[in-house]
Amino acid sequence: MNVKTLSDKQLQVIILAAGKGTRMYSDLPKVLHKLAGKSLVEHVIDSAEALNAESISLIYGHGAEQVKDSLKERELIWCEQKEQLGTGHAVQQAIEAVNDSANVLILYGDVPLLGPETLNKLLEAKQNSSIALLTANLDDPQGYGRIVRNSESKIEKIVEQKDASDKIKQITEINSGVMVVDGDKLKQWLAKIGNNNAQGEYYLTDLIELAVLENEIVQSYIVKDNKEIEGINNKIQLAELEREYQKRQAYTLMTRGVTLRDPGRFDLRGTIETGQDVIIDINVIIEGHCKIGSNVTIGANTVIKDMTIGDNVEILENCILEKSTIAGGCHIGPFARLRPDTKLDENAKVGNFVEIKKSHISRGSKVNHLSYIGDTEMGENVNIGAGTITCNYDGAYKHLTKIGDNAFIGSNTALVAPIEIGDGATIGAGSTLSKNAEAEKLTFTRAGQRTLDGWQRPSKKK
Ligand code: UD1
Ligand code: CA
Repeated sequence: MNVKTLSDKQLQVIILAAGKGTRMYSDLPKVLHKLAGKSLVEHVIDSAEALNAESISLIYGHGAEQVKDSLKERELIWCEQKEQLGTGHAVQQAIEAVNDSANVLILYGDVPLLGPETLNKLLEAKQNSSIALLTANLDDPQGYGRIVRNSESKIEKIVEQKDASDKIKQITEINSGVMVVDGDKLKQWLAKIGNNNAQGEYYLTDLIELAVLENEIVQSYIVKDNKEIEGINNKIQLAELEREYQKRQAYTLMTRGVTLRDPGRFDLRGTIETGQDVIIDINVIIEGHCKIGSNVTIGANTVIKDMTIGDNVEILENCILEKSTIAGGCHIGPFARLRPDTKLDENAKVGNFVEIKKSHISRGSKVNHLSYIGDTEMGENVNIGAGTITCNYDGAYKHLTKIGDNAFIGSNTALVAPIEIGDGATIGAGSTLSKNAEAEKLTFTRAGQRTLDGWQRPSKKK
């Protein structure tokens, strides 16, 4: 998503994120709540970066430590707003870094769906004037600042809901809050803003009247999609925008040819690359970055995180797969768990109630039922019987298990690591092995089977 700004002017972005989010009823600052696995404010930062912004200033206040910690990897100019005295006051905190000749774009940390395409339209609309507003027409404009236009439909001012007369409340065109202003003008006008209004706040929106006083034309762009300017104030709005965002991602995937059994029951919390003929059943969650080949089916209720999956792979229902690689032709599940650093080569099979951690399973090997395989290097065409456990942990250290090509491990075997099973070795069912097993031989640790004559079950005395 890299959309170049059309204007030659340098772009600087200021993101307002000082608010507490009282109605979230949470210890987490509002802008750190997550939408599709990414914090609200990071969605906004990503949009700003997609516009190639020269600098991004973040106005923070509530939950300062948490906000700073969670965004420490991002390149930001940090501007503290100790008291929240209004949107104008908030922008004032970032004024030092503003260049006179720049376009300054003001965004909100709690408006996550506003994308670079729309922002570019706003920048285009600004043309050679010194200010442009992003507005919207809403069926229910309640709560928003109203855009007041004159008889030539030029913008005259913005009136906040709390300061509005009944007549102004009838206006359905609203201020999204997002605007782009020339750096030098922003400095001049902000310095003139007062707080003589119903809320006793420094309103950023007062810039408009100041611009009009100087005979500036206030340009505007009306958003096509009102969801883009929606802010999040409570958990209901958070859930609604999450679904909306998921719907958009799902439609993008379907446009690329992915079959989603139900786009309403699909969640992508990250990014995904897919080949052709990928079929995803309901309630699948994809996280982090996943690469999925062609002709892959993913069964219902499966979670896939940071995975690389080859072609012709079948994943049945209820699997949890994380930070691992699955080569072409593998069969996984149902109810399989792959933990980080697992590598399955071509045509391997991992069946039900099998957990594999930090192991390499070579081509054609099968772990079909009820097993734990950890810290294991497994050769080709190995058959692991039901209930086989690699005992990789001695309470202090992890140890390796090596299993050679064509080995056959009987059911209910415990392999106490470190241990090596030779090529073609056969292990008798029910064995507990703590020493290496020789290649091509049968090894077992079972006691011989006995039958006692004349033995009777205990019974109660009458
Ligand atoms: C603002 C606009 C209004 C617009 C609406 C869109 C003003 C005066 N009004 O109103 O015209 O229709 O947004 O949602 O600008 N913030 C700070 N520091 C502050 C104040 C606010 O960081 O001192 C942040 C808030 O955390 C929030 C955003 O700025 O994310 C908007 O502030 P809010 O008080 O909600 O503005 P509104 O009253 O909704
Ligand atoms: Ca608001």
